Amino acid sequence: MLEPIRFLLPGPSYVPEDVRQALARPLIGHRSAAFKELYARVGARLPAVLRTRGEALVATASSTLVMEAAIASCVESQVLHLVNGAFAERWHQISVALGKSPDRLEAPMGEALDPDLVRRALRRKRYEAVALVHNETSAGVMNPLPEIARAVREESDALLLVDTVSSLGGVPVETDAWGLDVVLAGTQKALALPPGLTVFTLSGRAAERAAGVARRGFYTDLLRYLAKHREGGTITTPAVSLFYALDLQLDRILAEGMEARWARHQRLQARTAAWAEENGFAFAPAPGARSWTVSCLRPPDGMAAPEIVQRLGERGYVVGGGYGDWKSTTFRIGHMGEVRESDLEALLAALAEVVVACTAS
Ligand SMILES: Cc1ncc(COP(=O)(O)O)c(C=O)c1O
Repeated sequence: MLEPIRFLLPGPSYVPEDVRQALARPLIGHRSAAFKELYARVGARLPAVLRTRGEALVATASSTLVMEAAIASCVESQVLHLVNGAFAERWHQISVALGKSPDRLEAPMGEALDPDLVRRALRRKRYEAVALVHNETSAGVMNPLPEIARAVREESDALLLVDTVSSLGGVPVETDAWGLDVVLAGTQKALALPPGLTVFTLSGRAAERAAGVARRGFYTDLLRYLAKHREGGTITTPAVSLFYALDLQLDRILAEGMEARWARHQRLQARTAAWAEENGFAFAPAPGARSWTVSCLRPPDGMAAPEIVQRLGERGYVVGGGYGDWKSTTFRIGHMGEVRESDLEALLAALAEVVVACTAS
């Protein structure tokens, strides 16, 4: 039985009590037989979450490191960044910082990326890779990843590097079926684990290309992760305690089933949308672009988003404020990870109270 969830940030998300307790287990050496067994158990089940018949790897790092590693390992120079929010912006900055020659194809914050524009960009120029964020946590926007992936596959031989940080575990991500080359996700969002680990895939063709890329770094060399993985371990001292947590949480995720998990997240989004409509709250993202894991809402006129966040806090509920340019005008509900309908209903009831309090003041 899970405790009631009142922590609905768009990451980090609520972590179940048994998983939190797993963190307190005594440590084991990371070259011990016990860790090898733990690592193998994790490695055997992670591909089902990432929907690949290939290998699924784990870095002791937050997602940004693996975003950097994907560029450092897979791109010599030419990469196209699809940008419609803060994290895609960050990925572009990473390519600049690494001395690559990145181009950008943008959509305004709140709108989804257009697969046809991607197609046209790929007809104009050859790229080694296309990098995009599946679910822009900053804006609550979900990009049409299958359609974009199809466009990239049909128009080019560019590798597809995909940040699924706030979608993996809550939204369909079909690594093999959609032909994705690097899929990465920090564990602190829809996987409902503490921050500190990032899970990722590296396709066979991405590994082949990486072999031809000079100066992949050390901690950012994905081929080094792959080689160590095949020996049954990690490239550096891993966050062993977080592996205990991952091991346990994988049981929960796979017992629920990926399809059931996705459907639950979709229901949470639909319920939030219905409540918003009844109560005069508008979605900041365009209708076809709304995320299943993060709802980014604008309150009705006369109500300030930061005040809503604060008043929910006074009632014991944690939600996210707006991000970047939308900081003062929106707030974000992270209905991801282990959040159930009953948790969302309780939050929405508290939100209704907050609306009354804001209107009265
Ligand atoms: C979509 C997305 N990408 C990347 C990141 C960066 O993750 P981290 O802070 O774990 O490096 C975040 C963090 O919220 C995110 O939401």
